[in-house]
Amino acid sequence: MSATHFALRTAIQNIAEFTVPLHTGRQMPQLGLGTYQLRSHTVETVLRALESGYRMIDTSGDYHTQRGIGEALSHSELDRSDYFVVTKIEETEDAYEAVRRNLGELRLDYADLVLIHRPPDHTVGEESWQALRRAKRERLVRDIGVSNYSIEQIEELVYRTGEMPAVNQIEWSPFGHSPRMLDFCTDNHIVIQAWSPLTRGLRLNDDKLTSMAARYGKTPAQLLIRWNLQLGVVPLPKANHTQHQRENLDVFDFEIRQMDMAKLRTLNEHYSSMGVLPYV
Ligand SMILES: NC(=O)c1ccc[n+]([C@@H]2O[C@H](COP(=O)([O-])OP(=O)(O)OC[C@H]3O[C@@H](n4cnc5c(N)ncnc54)[C@H](OP(=O)(O)O)[C@@H]3O)[C@@H](O)[C@H]2O)c1
Repeated sequence: MSATHFALRTAIQNIAEFTVPLHTGRQMPQLGLGTYQLRSHTVETVLRALESGYRMIDTSGDYHTQRGIGEALSHSELDRSDYFVVTKIEETEDAYEAVRRNLGELRLDYADLVLIHRPPDHTVGEESWQALRRAKRERLVRDIGVSNYSIEQIEELVYRTGEMPAVNQIEWSPFGHSPRMLDFCTDNHIVIQAWSPLTRGLRLNDDKLTSMAARYGKTPAQLLIRWNLQLGVVPLPKANHTQHQRENLDVFDFEIRQMDMAKLRTLNEHYSSMGVLPYV
């Protein structure tokens, strides 16, 4: 076995050990691959990610990546229980039918996690939530959650239905985050998944970030990912390039000191690719 191959296998074994518990008792990988705008070469990109050690893939009915992910998973030699697939339904569609369609595209019998992509305009998505609960009872999905929800919207959803989401997937980085949301989710055993954890590259050249990363001998992207891990937040960096994919996994061998965690928090400018963070 070559040295590179050995190093890769060791990385794969290590990464499989890093999981976070969901309030339902299941475990979720602590880091996943985002697939938004991964429309070309999806099969090859996902296969390379699985080979590098990724065990969670994030997608959505509207990303047009599900068929490619399904094909990649069907080519991989992994057992179904070895990987974790997250998908989403649109708030405007029939959620139960959307789950079935997504599963068909993914070639899966069940999804590990299905999220309501965003709250509808004038409600908290109670109807979609009840449909996801039905899909869960029927074992089409193991866990259910929300995305882009505020604290108040989660509280209202739970008040109306009695079921706490396992996850809230939100845009999240040192440049745009909310300590209040983190406290709320921690108190209620909701795991935050961070979308655009790398700010789509827009803040990777920030002076404070780059100089701190250099002190740790890491890249700015690795520092952003590690910041999430240490908060108990699950980052979903998207990376088409193999080098980026591997770099983003190489974050389990260092620790950001508490003083630097606090400094990273001060970068908060409530940055959002959508203009405004919907949860602050
Ligand atoms: N729930 C929601 O509403 C929602 C919304 C948006 C996104 N998401 C999910 O979150 C995932 C991640 O968010 P995102 O795709 O918006 O942005 P992101 O992960 O913050 O950034 C992706 C960009 O960063 C680059 N990159 C990756 N690793 C890098 C590295 N080590 N160094 C430098 N650049 C690097 C990628 O380049 P290459 O691809 O060229 O390697 C790509 O251009 C999405 O793919 C999607 O699965 C969810």
